[in-house]
Amino acid sequence: MMLLGYDVGSSAIKAALLDPESGTVVASARSPSDTEMTMETPNPGWAEQPPSRWWRHIQNATDALHQTADRDLASVSAIGLTYQMHGLVLVDDTHEVLRPAIIWCDSRAVDIGRAAFEALGQEWCLQHLLNSPGNFTASKLAWVKRNEPEVYSRIHKAMLPGDYVALKLTGDVCTTPSGLSEGTLWDVTSDALATDLLDHYGLDPTLWPTVVPTFAEQGTLSRAAADTLGLSPGTPVTYRAGDQPNNAFSLNALEPGDMAATAGTSGVVYGVDDTPRYDEQSRVNTFLHVNHKPNTQPRYGTLMCVNGTGILNRWLHDNMGTEAPLSYDAMNEEAAEAPLGAEGLSVLPFGNGAERTLDNRSPGASIHGLNFNVHDRTHLLRASQEGIVFALRYGIDIMSEMGLPVETVRAAHANMFRSPVFRTAFATITGTTVELIRTDGAEGAARGAGLGADVFDTRRDAFEGLERISTVEPKSAQVDAYTDAYERWKSRLDHQLTHPLET
Ligand code: XUL
Repeated sequence: MMLLGYDVGSSAIKAALLDPESGTVVASARSPSDTEMTMETPNPGWAEQPPSRWWRHIQNATDALHQTADRDLASVSAIGLTYQMHGLVLVDDTHEVLRPAIIWCDSRAVDIGRAAFEALGQEWCLQHLLNSPGNFTASKLAWVKRNEPEVYSRIHKAMLPGDYVALKLTGDVCTTPSGLSEGTLWDVTSDALATDLLDHYGLDPTLWPTVVPTFAEQGTLSRAAADTLGLSPGTPVTYRAGDQPNNAFSLNALEPGDMAATAGTSGVVYGVDDTPRYDEQSRVNTFLHVNHKPNTQPRYGTLMCVNGTGILNRWLHDNMGTEAPLSYDAMNEEAAEAPLGAEGLSVLPFGNGAERTLDNRSPGASIHGLNFNVHDRTHLLRASQEGIVFALRYGIDIMSEMGLPVETVRAAHANMFRSPVFRTAFATITGTTVELIRTDGAEGAARGAGLGADVFDTRRDAFEGLERISTVEPKSAQVDAYTDAYERWKSRLDHQLTHPLET
């Protein structure tokens, strides 16, 4: 018996095959394997991907699993899914996609969301856990209704990216309360669809799919999908969650006080709590966590997101101008060659859409203090990694002000946490202990599938085999130097925000 997890990211699809007996991954795959998926930007601030791209890479990743696994994938007994959050996929009544998906970092609906926040009342929105509707899924659909009425008129169902992938797998259209909450479509006080916000936007509530639990059978693999993927028809899909709640789940962060982080395309610090907290300006957001049960086990995930995280590192990788691009490991080594603080060079990483921690503003990415006689590539690489860490610290300060205890943060040993400069800077400037764990989102989704299918009796069984690789403590000797570098970075950000050149 095996469990299969898929992680539908914005840069790649990852797949993991987990043996529930040992709790370990026996095969994993990524597609594309050596590049990254693109996102289209038809207008500044927009970000789209065709859902067919995700499906093609799911097929490729599954093919790769067939080739590398020494087990027969016909023995997969349950499938779990995790996906890029806050996106919008629209299908007609034959389940054909009507337009490219409007993905999480698309900023076209910011003004629509801001107006709704004011019209419905900021306090009311926050208390109902609708955050600021900002550019989340509901506002994106409002944008489609206003700007593409002919598309809107043909919509049969609107859904999140993970709901679409589940539809391709099973033929069933459904979603979860946690998923709807990430789209500002779930009203936590009535524990039902956020009809007040939908009414405000004039959106038809029947466009949203039926709600199913996060851990439960949500449909079974259709004959067509099974043939395409080489899996057994009838295999149940038993878990689905947005990539950030799933990252926390993958790290077994499920109880009040637990905290998880990730530094992939975006960077997120995610705190679990049993009371819904909010920031008056909605610069960080609170959604339902995967194990939320109204009344009996309230669990909320408060997350701060920096859109421009690994995507900045990838931009450097792709555009550094070297004939053979440096590997990410080589980039990390070069970053470590520059001194702490990069001799006065600061990088603001905000080049991937409106940043929620900055009140949904888009100051763009920028380099400050460049001296041609002092700085070279190593400084730029270090200042970029430090700039991302500083942007995370900026958001963590907001979480602390909201009363969330920020002490120990768990992170997968992946993406930017692989860089010694990055993780040491993170621990030191945030004053946290970072526990690095060998896992990833696809593995977490496979564990989730096991819980949803009752393959695991308890949560403890589900996390058997999860291995802590190392612990990173703040470096006390470096606190002053990092604080100086952070203050310099922040004053450059403040200047940028007060002299905006919106991009
Ligand atoms: C979280 C967020 C991003 C996406 C990335 O709120 O917007 O981290 O989930 O896929």
